[in-house]
Amino acid sequence: MQSYDWQSALQQAVRKNQRDAHNRYAQLATVRADGTPANRTVVYRGVSDDQRSLRMVTDLRSDKLTEIAAQPIAELCWYLSHTREQFRIRGRMIAETQSAQRDATWKALSDAAKAQFFWPTPGIAVGSASSSTASSLPADPATEPPPDDFVLLLLEPFYVDHLRLRGTPQTRFFSQLNNNVWESTAVNP
Ligand SMILES: Cc1cc2nc3c(=O)[nH]c(=O)nc-3n(C[C@H](O)[C@H](O)[C@H](O)COP(=O)(O)O)c2cc1C
Repeated sequence: MQSYDWQSALQQAVRKNQRDAHNRYAQLATVRADGTPANRTVVYRGVSDDQRSLRMVTDLRSDKLTEIAAQPIAELCWYLSHTREQFRIRGRMIAETQSAQRDATWKALSDAAKAQFFWPTPGIAVGSASSSTASSLPADPATEPPPDDFVLLLLEPFYVDHLRLRGTPQTRFFSQLNNNVWESTAVNP
C-alpha cells in the first residue's frame, strides 16, 4: 500500500479544489455550555506558521469563543466537492488575539472580510445597544492594525477521518497523533 499522511492528502485536496471558492468552506463544531452541539460554516485560511494547525478567523464577540474557552476540543467537517472527499478533523482550538501570524492573516483578508469586524455585535437584536469595541469602519481598513475583535483561530488536530468517495472501492483512513507521531490506518469506508 502507498504511504499515507493526512496533511499531504489535505494540501493536495485543497490544491485540486481551489477553482471553486466554496471548497474553502468547512463546518466547525463546538460544544455549548449545556452540552448541545454548535455547528457553523467557516472559511479555511491555510495552515499556521508552524504548519501544525489549520487557520480560521472569527469575531471575539461570537458565541464560539465562549464555547471554545469552556471546551477547547472541536471538530471541523470539510467536504471538497471537486475531488469528492471529506475530512473530519478533531483537535484543540487556540484563539490568538495577539500574534504576528494574526496580524499577517488580517493583512491578507479582503476589505469586505475586514469590514465585518466593524459591524455591530453579532447575535444580538438589531438596533439594540452594542457591546462592540469597534463599531465604525475606519476610512481605510487595509491600513489599520487589526481591531480588538479580530481573532485568529487555530485548530491543532489530533485525530483525522478522511473519506474519499471517488474510486472503487472508496477509501477511508483514520489518523491519530500518538506521542507527537501521526499513525494512520486504512479502514473500511
Ligand atoms: C459561507 C460562510 C462562510 C463563513 N465564514 C465564517 C468565518 O470564516 N468565520 C466566522 O466566524 N464565521 C463565518 N461564517 C458565519 C458563521 O457560520 C456563523 O454564523 C457565525 O460565525 C456565528 O457563529 P457562532 O454564533 O456559533 O459563533 C460564515 C458563514 C458562511 C455562510
